[in-house]
Amino acid sequence: MLSPNLESFIRALPKAELHLHIEGSLEPGMVFELARKHGVTLKYPTVEALRAAYDFSDLQSFLDIYYAGADVLRDADDFHAMTMAYLRRAHADGVMHSEIFFDPQTHTDRGIAMGTVIDGITRALDDAKREFGLSSRLILCFLRHLSEEAALQTLEQALPYRDRIVAVGLDSSERGHPPEKFSRVFAKARELGFLTVAHAGEEGPAAYIRTALDELKVSRIDHGVRCEEDPALVRRLAAEQIPLTVCPLSNTRLKVFSRMADHNIGRLLEQGLCVTVNSDDPAYFGGYVLANYLAVAEALSLSRAQIAQLARNSITASFLDEPSKQHWLSRLDAIASAAS
Ligand code: ADE
Ligand code: ZN
Repeated sequence: MLSPNLESFIRALPKAELHLHIEGSLEPGMVFELARKHGVTLKYPTVEALRAAYDFSDLQSFLDIYYAGADVLRDADDFHAMTMAYLRRAHADGVMHSEIFFDPQTHTDRGIAMGTVIDGITRALDDAKREFGLSSRLILCFLRHLSEEAALQTLEQALPYRDRIVAVGLDSSERGHPPEKFSRVFAKARELGFLTVAHAGEEGPAAYIRTALDELKVSRIDHGVRCEEDPALVRRLAAEQIPLTVCPLSNTRLKVFSRMADHNIGRLLEQGLCVTVNSDDPAYFGGYVLANYLAVAEALSLSRAQIAQLARNSITASFLDEPSKQHWLSRLDAIASAAS
């Protein structure tokens, strides 16, 4: 059989996306459309000028623009339109399951009700399941630059929507805001039956990965690439098969690695870690999940077997039930072996 080109090979592999901030999928065109709809004056006169501002030096320089962009989201239809646009793109990339972060505090602090945010997002999740069979889960993230008290209040506000949220997570400015700042919030969330994940070791030290595991009892680490600074931690992540949701284009755009050729995902894969490929904030970082796979495959000369392993990891590391995981893993193995 003729081997398909790399792009069609990756697209055909069933993939789960496990690290996607829905507010980070808000494309500049939609920012302008929603600004017009709501009579909001933007700081940038054109789509091109806004796009030109996406030249980041670190995580904080990105977050400042990301939170400003989210200000145009005002009603449930806006959240629905943004989420639907992401799900269509993910589907086109061969994503069959997506676990989506949302940042309620970014909206509730502007006077938008929790119910407005969740209603718009979940309507799109249901539409995508019905229209093109893409399954999903929703993960509520606490903003770590805000207080423990604010996170506890947010958890309380989310309780009426408990059945639509699978897990809680932790994002925003990492340095100076260690996971243990939220130990009590995460303990309460676990008591309520939520799974837990946390961003750790993106810009922050490897020690934050350890406290996310030991204090927050997370099922996965979001990013985690700085684990390499602690070889004993790398051995633990491999032994316990703790998934890392790695975001290659994000890491180069936010200068975690200066070039894709320097990215450590290939080394971590070779050491047996359960690493996965994700897009983080695709509207800001230059590509959705397929572009992320292609970027690492090309820069690190990954083999097709290694690429298939990354997709396999994404299914294993998801919060899907066991029969669904087995279904997608056997589909993936059939596609990967037909192409080799
Ligand atoms: N919020 C959105 N994207 C993020 C990232 N890459 N790190 C931390 N918080 C975020
Ligand atoms: Zn992220």
